[in-house]
Amino acid sequence: PVPRPALRPLHGLRALVTAGPTHEPIDPVRYLANRSSGRQGYAIADALAQAGAAVTLISGPTILPPPPGVTLHRVETAVQMLAACDAAMPCDIAVCTAAVADWRIATPVTSKIKKTPGAPPPSLALVPNPDILAHLSRPGPARPRLVVGFAAETDDVRDNAVAKRKRKGCDWIIANDVRAQTGIMGGNENEVTLITATGSEYWPRMSKDAVACGLVRRITAAFDIAPD
Ligand code: CTP
Ligand code: CA
Repeated sequence: PVPRPALRPLHGLRALVTAGPTHEPIDPVRYLANRSSGRQGYAIADALAQAGAAVTLISGPTILPPPPGVTLHRVETAVQMLAACDAAMPCDIAVCTAAVADWRIATPVTSKIKKTPGAPPPSLALVPNPDILAHLSRPGPARPRLVVGFAAETDDVRDNAVAKRKRKGCDWIIANDVRAQTGIMGGNENEVTLITATGSEYWPRMSKDAVACGLVRRITAAFDIAPD
């Protein structure tokens, strides 16, 4: 194998990271979204780039600046995020941190929905969005060698995440507890459990940058690259 510079152990590898929420339009002024800030995904893209990987970051709407040296594609909806991921393939490593909206409005309208005095509120028909992590995890010659997902859970965090890893077909899943009282979704810290095919590892609460560095260290080891 080609020796890689010790300080940039992922040099020569391509990585894809999804981050942020998606916004699913209802009408021109309203959308369906969630509390994701994008911080964890941006931190991972940054850490992968610092380790020498060529990183494409596919981001839903956030207020974050692009990490240095990362190719950033901004998208709004899940359908756009999927298309941008496909366009960024092939890659060696995929990390899906995006809080993709599970549903989109079946028929967004191009005119603002108005209140009609006396009429009941409108009901919104939803349809499921594509599952980007499951899509990237499909077996085949184009599959990234390592696919990592996140699992945002409020209950039975570890068990749900173990089941989710299998359901999605990804290699690793990073479970995090997003219960309101932990205040983690949208915050600067994370408390996670890394789940692989062979076991799990609890990482006590730390900054999202530290989680990103820990993950990049694990990725470097998985690719059997001597760390610096
Ligand atoms: N994910 C994705 N595309 C979707 C939904 C989720 O790529 N349409 C990815 C997320 O980026 C994350 C992982 O799948 O890496 C798990 O997301 P999560 O919302 O926890 O799981 P879901 O399968 O959507 O299940 P649920 O929300 O019902 O717990
Ligand atoms: Ca979901």
